[in-house]
Amino acid sequence: MKISLSVLSCDYADVKGSLSKTFDAVDYIHLDVMDGVFVNNISFGPAFIQSLRKLTDKPFDTHLMIQYPEKYIERFAEVGSQYITFHVEATCDVMNTINQIKKAGCKAGISIKPGTPVEDIKKYLPYLDMVLVMSVEPGFGSQPFMPVAIDKVKELKELKDRNNYNYLINIDGGINLKTMPLVKAYLDVAVSGSYICNSDNPVEAAKKLKEI
Ligand code: DX5
Ligand code: ZN
Repeated sequence: MKISLSVLSCDYADVKGSLSKTFDAVDYIHLDVMDGVFVNNISFGPAFIQSLRKLTDKPFDTHLMIQYPEKYIERFAEVGSQYITFHVEATCDVMNTINQIKKAGCKAGISIKPGTPVEDIKKYLPYLDMVLVMSVEPGFGSQPFMPVAIDKVKELKELKDRNNYNYLINIDGGINLKTMPLVKAYLDVAVSGSYICNSDNPVEAAKKLKEI
């Protein structure tokens, strides 16, 4: 199991001091970009990501919770993202956005909110490097896991195995030692924010999650 650490809930003024060691204990760094339009929250943008890039060589998995993601792909690629994931609900130009991400030299991911069925992204699956299933309503960290995500990661795993697709299956929201066992059989990557960042020993917390 690979872990992607969401820095959303961390102390932004002290990422270097508080998280550098934890970066070494995980596989990806998950960057939650929110615009106050697609979701009811505003987080950070490309400048913050560019600063983080100096702290670690781990791949950056940038999760765009923004309307019209196609306008900003190049910028998020420039600042050091390896994966760029956008919401299928946020654009009417899905295929063009996937192509733009690839043209910018990044791997392309699509995310779906808890109310969006896998059916809505089926036709894009052959072209994707990552599918990010939201197990909370996007916008905030520390929310409880929504079981509606379980069947979706299961369905994505069946489709992947049956068709030899290449995407990584990721889940995002409310992942901790209790919820991980519900989904681990179907996942490639689990995103975790508050469980790791708020624990007394984030490095140990990340290791425990990985070992499940
Ligand atoms: C929610 C974000 C998640 C969130 C995960 O909109 O996309 O990545 O930060 O945080 P936890 O693990 O606290 O649910
Ligand atoms: Zn996220």
